[in-house]
Amino acid sequence: MPMATMSTKLFVTGGAGFIGSAFIRLLLDRDDATEITNFDALTYAGNLDNLQDLDPERHHFIRGNITDREAVQAALGDGTQAIINFAAESHVDRSILSADEFLRTNILGTQVLLDAARERGVNRFLQVSTDEIMGSLLEDETAYFTESSAFAPNSPYAASKAAAEHLVRAAHHTFGLDTIITRCGNNYGPRQFPEKFLPLAVSNALNDQSIPIYGDGRNVRDWIYVDDHCRAILLALEKGRSGEVFNIGARNERRNIEVAESVLDALGKPHSLLRFVKDRPGHDRRYAIDPTLAEAELGWAPIETWESGLRKTISWYQENARWVERTRSGAYQTYYEQQYGTEVTS
Ligand SMILES: NC(=O)c1ccc[n+]([C@@H]2O[C@H](COP(=O)([O-])OP(=O)(O)OC[C@H]3O[C@@H](n4cnc5c(N)ncnc54)[C@H](O)[C@@H]3O)[C@@H](O)[C@H]2O)c1
Repeated sequence: MPMATMSTKLFVTGGAGFIGSAFIRLLLDRDDATEITNFDALTYAGNLDNLQDLDPERHHFIRGNITDREAVQAALGDGTQAIINFAAESHVDRSILSADEFLRTNILGTQVLLDAARERGVNRFLQVSTDEIMGSLLEDETAYFTESSAFAPNSPYAASKAAAEHLVRAAHHTFGLDTIITRCGNNYGPRQFPEKFLPLAVSNALNDQSIPIYGDGRNVRDWIYVDDHCRAILLALEKGRSGEVFNIGARNERRNIEVAESVLDALGKPHSLLRFVKDRPGHDRRYAIDPTLAEAELGWAPIETWESGLRKTISWYQENARWVERTRSGAYQTYYEQQYGTEVTS
């Protein structure tokens, strides 16, 4: 799908969240010819502060829920070239506490968007998915997730994202909808809601609060800087062949304990801030992505190293204390206390 020659109209869902807002920023910075409708329900994870500096001529925000057919139809302008679906309930721990909203948004919402794409003749549908749909690899093996790895989701979140992928696949196979699926690992970078592990570690360390580590801390995740992920999504949107799936990973496996220690070291804080807590039920041991297809076919490679990405991330949280303060209030306080048994005092 060649873009950026004439005016391109894109419909981005979940664009007030962490990755969606980074994607919009990247796209608007890259060319002058793209107009984006950003459709987001503004759940606890959606944040208009993430969109403050965007050009209002080319970025149109509409508050709406992807499960609401009429609202989606009304917001989807004529001549929309692509839908990029970031909207989701995205936190595994919350899905363990209650799965309802995950099923509604991640599964039913995706189907509503697929139907709308078909009915309105949208050229392409890109589903932002996750490596978690493929379950867990063993800690010490050298296996990697490929595009043909079996589905084996282990959390309600992962199961809902797996179901969404099946629906996207079905829309392609049954109705010929032009679809792309991208699956990536753990993103990190600016504007990530501080319930997720890395921003939680950074913001707690900045406040000299302990960092909760699940279980023995040896669970492995494959970390990717958010802008590198977004550049891969853009390339997949432009160059991917209809029906393709791409695994996006920066070949950057890290144990949780190592991630937390890197944060503490970067901030000059003591390792005594690490606090081991009861493990997450069903906690996947290791995720590791083989990104060979994306590298070969899309010509994608990450720009940031772990060190440079982490430095940028930590600096952003240091410089945006007010953003952190605002997100760590109200419902977040209650959630944190329920989860870790400690009150957030900042
Ligand atoms: N963060 C990661 O490390 C990661 C890794 C792999 C895949 N993903 C996927 O990337 C996407 C974006 O993740 P994120 O980390 O930016 O999530 P996020 O939680 O920061 O943002 C999600 C956004 O979706 C919006 N949203 C939620 N329910 C909605 C609904 N029903 N209708 C409209 N908008 C709704 C929220 O308001 C929020 O702005 C998700 O689909 C997630 O599954 C994330």
